[in-house]
Amino acid sequence: MKKTEFTAVVPVAGMGTRLRPHTYTYPKVLLTVGDKPIIGHILDDLSAAGIKKVCMVVGYLGEKIKEYVAKNYKHLQVSYVAQDEQKGLGHAIWLTRRCVTGPVLVILGDTILDADLSKFMTSKQDSIAVKRVEDPRRFGVVEVKGGYISAMIEKPEKPRTNLAIVGIYSFHNSSLLYNSLEKLVDSGKTTKGEIQFTDAMALMVKDGRKIKPVPIDGWYDCGKPGTLLETNRHILDKKKFSCKAKNSLIIPPVYISPAAKVRNSIVGPYVSIGAGADIDSSIISDSIVNEKAAISNMNLSGSLVGPSATVAGRKDQLNVGENSEIRFDKSACQ
Ligand code: UTP
Repeated sequence: MKKTEFTAVVPVAGMGTRLRPHTYTYPKVLLTVGDKPIIGHILDDLSAAGIKKVCMVVGYLGEKIKEYVAKNYKHLQVSYVAQDEQKGLGHAIWLTRRCVTGPVLVILGDTILDADLSKFMTSKQDSIAVKRVEDPRRFGVVEVKGGYISAMIEKPEKPRTNLAIVGIYSFHNSSLLYNSLEKLVDSGKTTKGEIQFTDAMALMVKDGRKIKPVPIDGWYDCGKPGTLLETNRHILDKKKFSCKAKNSLIIPPVYISPAAKVRNSIVGPYVSIGAGADIDSSIISDSIVNEKAAISNMNLSGSLVGPSATVAGRKDQLNVGENSEIRFDKSACQ
């Protein structure tokens, strides 16, 4: 099977409610982690694995995603389908049925994997990435018999295994997948109020399709403030950027965009600073400062500062918008 025959399906229509207030104006996948937006890491990994065709499911703030992708990923053939109502991941993938012929690689828009994606395409079998987790009730989980998946359950109340599905799937015959999705959509079945991708795959397994679980260690979620910062730490550790700043102490690992201004500050470890940001007389560690944010006279740690936000001066002088989260204890980004 040639890797280039695969079409990658990337659903990014979600509202990213767990990352509010940032996601009121920015889609989750455009938030920065390391040196670029989440979706940039995913599309880079897909390109590195030899993918040429991508079908994205867009919805909430989709125009901004299209703009970013058109500007930065001209070498990929990207098509879009619209999901106007967020009815669940199964529904999102079902909408791509006219975009895809042949083999398909599905990757969730808020998952960065530290794994060679090409192994999902060179393997002759359908595969799903899995990882052992502490609390499987938050995930879709798989049961395994004789090396293949024997059952799949979305967010089980009493999980029989702790092998969670972690957001990358490959199917050699996409028609079988779309047939199962069609059956699921026609049946009107929902789990926890959504048309679940796990339920469609469970139908395939029930029909006797052999799907291999592929254990993955390097799985980095970007869905919540705490996991976004964790993923940021991982990317900075891995990529080791070299950064300069005027009259400042940089404690690596740190990423400072060449188009950001940093002066009279102590930055790091584990800080990402986006293009056009302006940092003055501040101490910042373990934080992500998005593009064009301005920070002065602050001492920040474990923080997410949104694009074009201003954080300045004494902490008893604030102008705070709806749903902002500002705490002066250690628990701001749990
Ligand atoms: P999530 O449930 O993690 O993303 O879905 P979300 O809904 O944006 O985030 P929260 O829960 O409100 O914080 C995983 C991926 O599937 C996409 C999301 O955009 C995300 O990339 N998705 C999910 C869709 O495209 N459509 C859906 O109906 C559901």
